[in-house]
Amino acid sequence: MMERTLVLVKPDGVQRGLVGEVIGRFERRGLRLMALKLLRIDRAVAERHYAEHRTKPFFDQVVAFVTSSPVVAMVWTAPGAVALVRTMMGPTNPQAAPPGTIRGDLGIDLGQNVIHGSDGANRAEEEIALFFGPDELVEWGRDHERWIHGPA
Ligand code: RTP
Ligand code: MG
Repeated sequence: MMERTLVLVKPDGVQRGLVGEVIGRFERRGLRLMALKLLRIDRAVAERHYAEHRTKPFFDQVVAFVTSSPVVAMVWTAPGAVALVRTMMGPTNPQAAPPGTIRGDLGIDLGQNVIHGSDGANRAEEEIALFFGPDELVEWGRDHERWIHGPA
């Protein structure tokens, strides 16, 4: 089933010049880009984005980090996009992430793990709405899509 998912290149990834690397991986895999912007996340949005972690000891740290410098927010679509992106990201802690994954190839530190991806289809829709208005999501087709995942 076609899904959409929210991806953030986190402040460390933008500062390190890894935006193109991350985008390239999703493009090459065959996901389709629907929305893209560079923004500085404010505290209110960060707290909503990480609301599930509000009671955790690392909450203040993760909010401070994600608001510390610009991020690149994107919406990607594909059949099973949520799980595809999570698998390509690798585990939360880059120390445990295998080579071939984004965190395993590009990161070392748990707090600076390059990328965020939604962790469920419902959560993805909530996160997309947090970062993008409906008019910012572009519906479009690619001529070669049937060579990636068959007819619509
Ligand atoms: P994200 O939400 O950023 O995509 O990462 P995730 O799903 O893989 O991990 P999650 O459990 O949602 O944690 C959110 C972010 O908080 C930081 N974290 N620190 N100190 C700690 O124990 C700890 N645990 C998580 C990580 O930077 C993680 O990406
Ligand atoms: Mg998460």
